[in-house]
Amino acid sequence: MKLNLDSTNLSALSSPLLAVPVFTDKFGGAFELVNDSLDGLLGRIAEEEGFEGKPGSTLLVRNSEGAELRRVLLVGLGAEKGFKPSGFRAVACAAVKEANTRRLSGASCMLPQGAPSEDTLRFGIEGAILGGYRYDKWLSRDVKDQTCSGLNFLTSEGEGLNVNVARYAAIASGVNFARDLVNGPPSEVHPAYLAEVATEISKESGLELTIFEEDELVRRKMDLLMAVGTGSAIRPRLIHLTYRPDGADENTPSIALVGKGVTFDAGGYNIKPTGSMEDMKMDMSGSAAVLGLMKIVKDVAPNCIVHGIVPTVENLVSSTAYKPGDIYTGLNGKSVEIMNTDAEGRLIMADALCYADSLNPDKLIDLATLTGACVVALGPHIAGIFSNDDSFAKTIKDAADRAGEDMWHMPLAQKLKPMLKSRAADMKNIGQRWGGAITAALFLEEFVGERTWAHLDIAGPAFADKAEGHIPAGGTGFGVLTLVQLLEGESV
Ligand code: BES
Ligand code: MN
Ligand code: ZN
Repeated sequence: MKLNLDSTNLSALSSPLLAVPVFTDKFGGAFELVNDSLDGLLGRIAEEEGFEGKPGSTLLVRNSEGAELRRVLLVGLGAEKGFKPSGFRAVACAAVKEANTRRLSGASCMLPQGAPSEDTLRFGIEGAILGGYRYDKWLSRDVKDQTCSGLNFLTSEGEGLNVNVARYAAIASGVNFARDLVNGPPSEVHPAYLAEVATEISKESGLELTIFEEDELVRRKMDLLMAVGTGSAIRPRLIHLTYRPDGADENTPSIALVGKGVTFDAGGYNIKPTGSMEDMKMDMSGSAAVLGLMKIVKDVAPNCIVHGIVPTVENLVSSTAYKPGDIYTGLNGKSVEIMNTDAEGRLIMADALCYADSLNPDKLIDLATLTGACVVALGPHIAGIFSNDDSFAKTIKDAADRAGEDMWHMPLAQKLKPMLKSRAADMKNIGQRWGGAITAALFLEEFVGERTWAHLDIAGPAFADKAEGHIPAGGTGFGVLTLVQLLEGESV
């Protein structure tokens, strides 16, 4: 997608499609400008069609035949008061989608007047690149419905607006990269494949790379990770990519990111029923977010060391698979009685969190499609934040808000810890029925020592049943944008 920034010169604008942000009530400055240049056409049609600028609504207005500006797409944003720049994603996204539907090769898009342009432009770039995403790798028929290859943003600030378009385009491409990984079929995207992907990333961006294969995992006693992977012929891996800013030394702050990489979760012997297993290729979405971030970390260029860590396995059924009743010991010496082989994510994350802790990062964040219970609690669009540090949780929540991703701070209720008690081992891997997202987070907490840590349960938003705005059906790449925002904020 070619993205351009131009100053608004409506009288000279020749475009097959111009998208215009429209607020409820007064419709806003961008609308006024375009409406004036078309002698009030937009206002008349909007009135006739009952278009009010409600969020999610659009209205396509055709200009008269022979006009240089062929069509205007009004995109409703809701009330101007309280408008968040991330809302502008919808306008660029609608422009690209409408252009594709009409087989247009490109489109233009007005920036809202009055809002901070740097921010809105950034979200416009995201809307265009994320909204234009499709996973069509396996379609044999020619895909002709992605004709729109360029979007021209129009601003009244002209030359004064100095935004690094390439930087924000790179960031959005990191999200699409994560989506591709999630959408890939599980026979392709398996632990060895993720290791190859990490190898590519390290070559491209000059990141340090360590991959522990079976021998090394056994030698290091990462028995929980090995246990989950024991049912698969494709052996577990632990992937570790490291970014260091130029001139980094021992005083440079650091953060470790750990992403759950269960490339297929059949549940193991506690096998998932039909209806619950079909989408379980998405159980590596945490790892996809971490790899997506590492893919673009050079473009983000934060002033801190970033460790990207991915424990990856397949959770299958076989004569070698681990069983309920088994006991394994984690990297920190705590023994775990397996009461449910489908609670596998916390096991592989446990060893990976211990490993991350051993690197002595200032902050530790994990992303995992950990529990269905979190989806029950927050619904399909919102991730849960669990942390041993309330102010760190707030930092993450604020970053998510700015990045336009939905997260909510959940309690790490210590009262539920006894649910994890086992007679045979230090703990068991499941609690009781209620509070499943909390007990899973409490389990992880046992493996992070005293580290400032947050766990993001992304089971809901990582995968979408249906497309909505800039979010496609399937893998969403959730988490990448919040991580970028955090690293940019230097709040690490
Ligand atoms: N990968 C699943 C969680 C999940 C569920 C992700 C739905 C996305 C959508 C996880 O490994 C799992 O199976 N969790 C169990 C835990 C239970 C056995 C305590 C669950 O949520 O049912
Ligand atoms: Mn599971
Ligand atoms: Zn799982």
